[in-house]
Amino acid sequence: MDKNTLKQAVKTHWEDETCGIRYGEEIEQGRYELEPHIPSFAQFSKAKWKKVLEIGVGAGVDFLEWIRHGAHATGIDLTEAAIKHTRERLEAHNIKPHQYRLLASDAEKLPFADREFDIIYSWGVLHHTPDTTQAFKEALRVLKPGGILKAMIYHIPSWTGFLLWIQHCLLKGRPWKTSRYALFHYLESPGTKAYTLQEARILLEAVGFQNIHLETKLCAGDLLEIKPSKKYQGRVYRLIWKFYPRWFVRLLGHRFGLELLITAKK
Ligand SMILES: C[S@@+](CC[C@H](N)C(=O)[O-])C[C@H]1O[C@@H](n2cnc3c(N)ncnc32)[C@H](O)[C@@H]1O
Repeated sequence: MDKNTLKQAVKTHWEDETCGIRYGEEIEQGRYELEPHIPSFAQFSKAKWKKVLEIGVGAGVDFLEWIRHGAHATGIDLTEAAIKHTRERLEAHNIKPHQYRLLASDAEKLPFADREFDIIYSWGVLHHTPDTTQAFKEALRVLKPGGILKAMIYHIPSWTGFLLWIQHCLLKGRPWKTSRYALFHYLESPGTKAYTLQEARILLEAVGFQNIHLETKLCAGDLLEIKPSKKYQGRVYRLIWKFYPRWFVRLLGHRFGLELLITAKK
């Protein structure tokens, strides 16, 4: 599949179901219960008066936090659906349109001037776009010198990758396929990538980021603590959810977490 066709497939996937929307009313509370490390990583409270760009706002829960904490926030997402959900969330919280900028746009081609932002934040987004390196280059371009990038991309090896490999490779009689393959084809939008710590560092250094700090985290998906999506509603899946050895996954720590948290400077 060429990059434009893949980008269209990514867009179609996320237009169909904006990330997190299946949690309904519980999305705001549920997000930080399931992912308690997000606020300390994002450091919303340090963003007062800062120019923040969030790439891939999804349903807008984190975007709301930037605004609540006094940032001059701009948000983009590839899909109109995400922009609509985010706008509705902000309206529901009485946030006025002059308090933020929100637009459908592509991380690989940001519609902003060079050196415009103090902080760029992106949670679970840049591994979905076909040219992830280009998206990081764009982030660097629009950051001010000394500005901070905070991003989460997917990590490999991870429990999530292992579970998808069992489901889509081992149990389908093709154990030679890798968990990278399973993530690429079966985790969220088509073409989803995952990076080892070393690969992420090489990518970020090549793009030109400095002071790179990387950390891996277990997420609700690794622990099967997520609300199962439509395709995981059967009896077998209910049993797997019930008997999954979460204690063992936790015992091994964050090393095999799906989330790779990046903090880096321009
Ligand atoms: C897993 S969701 C994450 C959304 C949100 N950050 C969150 O944590 O809930 C991925 C989001 O990335 C967006 N996305 C994918 N490729 C993109 C691109 N090239 N430019 C902007 N957004 C993109 C999708 O539309 C989707 O809303």
